[in-house]
Formats: sequence, C-alpha cells, structure tokens
Amino acid sequence: MASHLPKSTTPIFVLCFFFLAFLTASARPVQRQLAGSRRPLREKTSHLHFYFHDIVSGRNPTAVNIVRPANISSAAGFGNVAMIDDPLTEGPELSSKLIGRAQGFYALDGQQETTLLMACTYVFLEGKYNGSTLSILGRNAPMHAVREMPVVGGSGLFRLARGYAVARTHQYDANTGDANVEYNVYVIHY
Ligand SMILES: *[C@@H]1O[C@H](CO)[C@@H](O)[C@H](O)[C@H]1NC(C)=O
Ligand SMILES: *[C@@H]1O[C@H](CO)[C@@H](O)[C@H](O)[C@H]1NC(C)=O
Repeated sequence: MASHLPKSTTPIFVLCFFFLAFLTASARPVQRQLAGSRRPLREKTSHLHFYFHDIVSGRNPTAVNIVRPANISSAAGFGNVAMIDDPLTEGPELSSKLIGRAQGFYALDGQQETTLLMACTYVFLEGKYNGSTLSILGRNAPMHAVREMPVVGGSGLFRLARGYAVARTHQYDANTGDANVEYNVYVIHY
C-alpha cells in the first residue's frame, strides 16, 4: 500500500505523528488544573458507609410530596414526586453522628411496581469530606432488599467521581412510610 503513495506524503505522516504527540503532552497540565494542584492526578477508590433517613411523617418531615398526579388510583404511586433533604448518619439511629445530607428529589416512575427515579446530591459534612458531594442518578426499587444506583459525578474531594451505591432497607414503617436505608457507596475519584 505504502509503495503506491507519492514520496512527498511521508513528511505529512511524520508531522501528524508529532502533532498528536504534542496534543497528548499538552493535555496533561489541563488534568492537573482540574485537580487544583501541581501533582499528577492519582485515581483513588473510596468506600462510604452510612444510613439514610427518609422521614415523611410527623411535624418535621425530611421528604415532602411536591407533585401529586391527577389520577391517584395507582397503587404504585406512579407520578408522585418528593423533594428531600434527608439526613445521613454514621450509625443506624437518627441520633447518631450526622455525616451528610441527601438533597434532591425522587420521582415515582413505575406503573406496575413502586420504583423511584433518584436524582440527588449527597453532600458530606464531616472531616476531610466536608462540603464534597456525590451525584446519584438512577433507579431505586424500594421494595427490593438490595438496590444499586449509579454515582454519576462529584465535587470537592470527589471530583470526576464514578461508582455505584448499594442500598438496603434497614427499617421501613409501613404505617408512617418512614424509611431507614443502609448505604454502601464505592467511588473512584481523584
Ligand atoms: C386511573 O388509574 C387506574 C389504575 O391505574 C385506571 O384503571 C384508570 O383508567 C385511570 N383513570 C383515568 C381517568 O386515567
Ligand atoms: C464544614 O464546613 C462548614 C463550612 O465551611 C463549617 O461551617 C463547618 O463547621 C464544617 N464542619 C465540620 C464538622 O468540620
């Protein structure tokens, strides 16, 4: 194949090679700027464990319904949307150390089965994670014992985060609707 090419095209290939090599090299400082430091980026893996309290009952609910569908006969609750500011605690008790809050909303998007579209920012308030956030966007079928939701991004110490959250219901009160959910979150970040 190469033998059919005119001789004069060879320098173009060589130039392209050096141009690509230059682009690759010049991309690195941009990555360093993203990390806000001069050190090269190093990928880290973090495992976070906490309890999520979704309180819908009582005087101080942390989850409030903001959208109610016109047709309320769906047993799955299809069409409801709740805005949340749920406390995240270190231990299973609500009185244990507050380590963050899950803020955002969940929308009931299942017609056959109760499923939630979770669109939330988990902001951490403790120690080195104080002020850092993780964005969770995904499907949560709360009647299943174990659910998995994608972590699609983050900020602060969790810049460029990707990962997943595994949620297990620790306690659910069918009378009040209050739920206590254990979370294990695994993230890769810089
Ligand atoms: C309301 O929902 C029920 C159950 O899903 C359905 O049978 C009914 O046709 C719906 N009514 C209207 C007016 O959409
Ligand atoms: C977290 O950061 C906020 C704002 O910078 C500060 O007011 C608060 O005391 C910090 N909390 C902890 C536990 O360090």
